[in-house]
Parts: sequence; C-alpha cells; structure tokens
Amino acid sequence: MIEDRIVALTGAGISAESGVPTFRGQGGLWEGFRAQDLATPQAFKKDPGLVWAFYHYRRRLVAGCRPNPAHEALALLEESIGSRFTLITQNVDGLHKDAGQQNIIEIHGSLWELKCTACSQIWQDREIYPDPAMPTCPGCGQIVRPAVVWFGESLDPMRLLSAWQAVEQATIMLVIGTSGVVFPAAQMPELARQHGALVVEFNPEETPLSSLADEVYREAAAQSVPGWCRNYLEG
Ligand code: OAD
Repeated sequence: MIEDRIVALTGAGISAESGVPTFRGQGGLWEGFRAQDLATPQAFKKDPGLVWAFYHYRRRLVAGCRPNPAHEALALLEESIGSRFTLITQNVDGLHKDAGQQNIIEIHGSLWELKCTACSQIWQDREIYPDPAMPTCPGCGQIVRPAVVWFGESLDPMRLLSAWQAVEQATIMLVIGTSGVVFPAAQMPELARQHGALVVEFNPEETPLSSLADEVYREAAAQSVPGWCRNYLEG
C-alpha cells in the first residue's frame, strides 16, 4: 500500500449525481443539438453566438451544481496519500477542484477558463453572462472562447504527457464514469494494465473498458467510490 501510486480517470458519469448531464446518456441534448455538433471549431466559426449560448447554458447549469460524495472521496484520498495520487479528468465542470482536488490534470480543459481567439491568452472566469453576450479579451478586445478542447482539436501536449507518465507509473487505476469511447483517455486504462496496474471500473453500465478491469462496481459512482476509498485507506 505504501508503494501504491493511484491514478483516477474520470468522465461525465462522476458528475451525474451532482446534476450535470452526461454526453451520451439521456439529457445529453441542448435545444435539439448534440454537444458533439456544437463543441467544434467549425460550429464556432459558423455561429459563435449559438456556441456561446450553449456554453452560457452549461456554465449556468454547472454553477448550480456541487461536488458529490464521489468527488469528495477522491479529494480525501489525495489528502491521505498526497502526490502518490493523480486525478485525470475529461470533465470540464470544475467539480473536482471545487471538492478540493489539487493534483489534477484537466485533459479537456475547463468551462471556467476562457481563451482569446486572437492573442491566445487564457484566464480564469467564473462570471455568468446574460444571453446573447459574447465575452471579449481584456487584453486585445477580440472575441474569446471557452478554453475547452473541442472535437477535432488536439489536447494540450504538456497535460497529456503528465497524464501518460502518471498512468505508466500507476499501480492502481480507477476508471470512473466514462464511456471509454473518446481517445486518448480511452487508451489510458490499457496502458496502465500493460504496466501491471490493477484496473478498477466504477460505472453502472458495461463499457469497452470493462473487459480490462480486475474489479467492477456497477453502482452510481457516488455510491461505490466512497466505499472503495474508505476500504483502501483502512487497508
Ligand atoms: P459519456 O457521456 O460518454 O459517458 C458517461 C458514462 O458515465 C457512461 O459510461 C455512463 O454509463 C456512466 N454513468 C452514468 N451515470 C453514472 C453514475 N451515476 N456513476 C458512474 N457512472 C455513470 O461521458 P465521457 O466518457 O466523459 O469530450 O465522455 C468523454 C468525452 O466525450 C467528454 O469529455 C467530452 C465528450 O464528448 C469533449 O468534450 C472533448
């Protein structure tokens, strides 16, 4: 246990019980649009107002959500084992940070960071804008966008490198609330396994990652993750 290095990979399912809809489950549509059709550079170029309306909606929705017992249990696990725990999340909702998680790699970015489309400056922004406002860059006045990774865009190479390194060194990999169909995150459990890690999946549904897992918990993450963490810490 003292030598364990734990990595948790989380997806939209961990935030489901906080009230954030998953992408591929029920409630994944906004005004009849799929997230996959709006969260793209092409959609933003064609109609930035529409894409911003979608993000205003998401920011408002998430601003009203709180971390649930699964986020809190992972923050406590980190408090107990320190830098031997790394959290890699595909979520952009910021709920892990709200729960107090420190060592976190947000591989798809954050709803709460904005990026200038002209000068590429990135900054934190928690303001809830009224529709149809489109925020502008405080530096150069140009239109800004959410600093999230959209479909068809590359992930930040430094974040990705840190994530791969953590995965390679993991002795335990927790795979929580992800459908396991979006790459490169979906490859991470397999790499951990190749390096000898125990893989544990927490997901009410079977996924393409289930066959890799040594242990599977088919409950909602808010139910299963706190118990797993408690058992682990009690040794
Ligand atoms: P998905 O919406 O694809 O999958 C959510 C997963 O959570 C499913 O496997 C559900 O079975 C599971 N789930 C639902 N409720 C749960 C609960 N209460 N507890 C645990 N699991 C639950 O979300 P992601 O896998 O996160 O990318 O999607 C990956 C990426 O695709 C997202 O980050 C986003 C998306 O399109 C970008 O925006 C770039």
